[in-house]
Amino acid sequence: MGLAVRYADIIPYTSVFLDCSFTDILHGLHESIRSAEQEDVRRELLQNLHHLFVTEKNPNPTIVCLAARTAFDLFLRVSEFPPGSEIIFTAINIPDMAKIARENGLKVVPCDLDLHTMGPKLDLLESLITCRTVAVLAAHLFGRWFDVKPVIQIAQKHNLKVIEDCAEGFCGLDRLGDPYSDLTLFSFGPIKFFTALGGGVAKVRDRSALEKMEELHDSYAIQSSEIYFQKLLKCAAIFLLLNIPLIIKPAMLLTDRLNIDHKSKVVNMLRGFPTDLLRRLRHRPPMALLALLLRRMRSVEEVPPGTYTANGQYIWDKLPDGVGKFGMSALANNFWLFPVLVEDPKVVSLELNRIGIDAYIGASQLNVVQPEFETFSSSASTLPVFDEDSTPLLAEEGAVKQEKVFLSPFPQTAKFFMDHVIYLPVNRMVSTEYLQKMSDGIAKVINCVAPSAFSFPPNSDSAFFSAKI
Ligand SMILES: Cc1ncc(COP(=O)(O)O)c(C=O)c1O
Repeated sequence: MGLAVRYADIIPYTSVFLDCSFTDILHGLHESIRSAEQEDVRRELLQNLHHLFVTEKNPNPTIVCLAARTAFDLFLRVSEFPPGSEIIFTAINIPDMAKIARENGLKVVPCDLDLHTMGPKLDLLESLITCRTVAVLAAHLFGRWFDVKPVIQIAQKHNLKVIEDCAEGFCGLDRLGDPYSDLTLFSFGPIKFFTALGGGVAKVRDRSALEKMEELHDSYAIQSSEIYFQKLLKCAAIFLLLNIPLIIKPAMLLTDRLNIDHKSKVVNMLRGFPTDLLRRLRHRPPMALLALLLRRMRSVEEVPPGTYTANGQYIWDKLPDGVGKFGMSALANNFWLFPVLVEDPKVVSLELNRIGIDAYIGASQLNVVQPEFETFSSSASTLPVFDEDSTPLLAEEGAVKQEKVFLSPFPQTAKFFMDHVIYLPVNRMVSTEYLQKMSDGIAKVINCVAPSAFSFPPNSDSAFFSAKI
């Protein structure tokens, strides 16, 4: 027996959904069967995509890949940074991004988050730069766009490359990152907005870097359309479970009664490239994927303003004080996923689940980017080392200890964020009736479980964070 949720109480929306129509999936399936690879058709699809992504605001040319990760890997491969070079990352990302950097011989140095902007802490960023630093990867997390200009200025001062990771930020062809970023990444994987159930688009500032990336990319085999076809079939099944309230409601009741963790099952089904990451990433997208991506991008202009933000803003404005808000000074917010911070995520999500709200802690793969570490075993080390509180560790004289020590400060705020986050089932599809019910349910649970105002860590401005926007 699960939580004994009452059928009438179930709010039939989930914290992740597929942002496409069933017809889009059918279109992709049709293209996968229909289209044998044809060089001229592929070229035309790519040209059409390039035209859409090359805009007046950001005229940098593009490369269309199997995933944003493929483009990141290509960029690092052609950049040929000396082994042991350092790349500074905003301290939250999916583990694959740091893995790719490491596979390319780089050391990853996390820069902690500024919760006001959701970008990197700028003063810290500058202090993390060493003679080995070659690049900064700044991610716009959860669709919050921070002002990347100061990051670019710092990077230019130290002759570093800037990678602007907009994988979670796509909100139309009018906001395509800063033209001074060396590499700008967009993702159209299954749970991204305007998904093509795969695909990544990168904008590259330097023409010669782009040419090298294209040359290397052209040497990759094209992913077989069967693989994409199978992925689309899987996504068609997932679509029914995540996007159709008439199915979600009885399915949630059933999985509750059978005590099945439906959330982790579905989220695991959505994971791409679970093993053998680089080998799988190093393929070109099949033509069917390009065709679906083009179809999705052409639909962008048909979406009325506010479609993606209205429901999110409604719930956000009504969140009780026991919920921690962040990203208040972001330049834009497309409400990708709906993370909020709570004192005790396990208790809150359980209580929300009990009243039929499908809150989930593990809705995304995002996690803290860990600093490089060493096993510290003698007093003779001359390396500056830090523990998890970012306190520099001094070796005790004569001590022979085996301890894991980090080679750069541990990103405390990012850890705090990930330790307190839950994802609420708020998205553009929630009906007005259920939106009100959800808002009331959240307030009821939070006011009962966490009646006092959410407290931010001491190094952040809690007065600002608890203020309502
Ligand atoms: C912040 C961030 N960066 C990069 C990626 C990678 O995107 P893709 O799946 O297209 O490789 C993701 C995808 O989840 C992401 O969330």
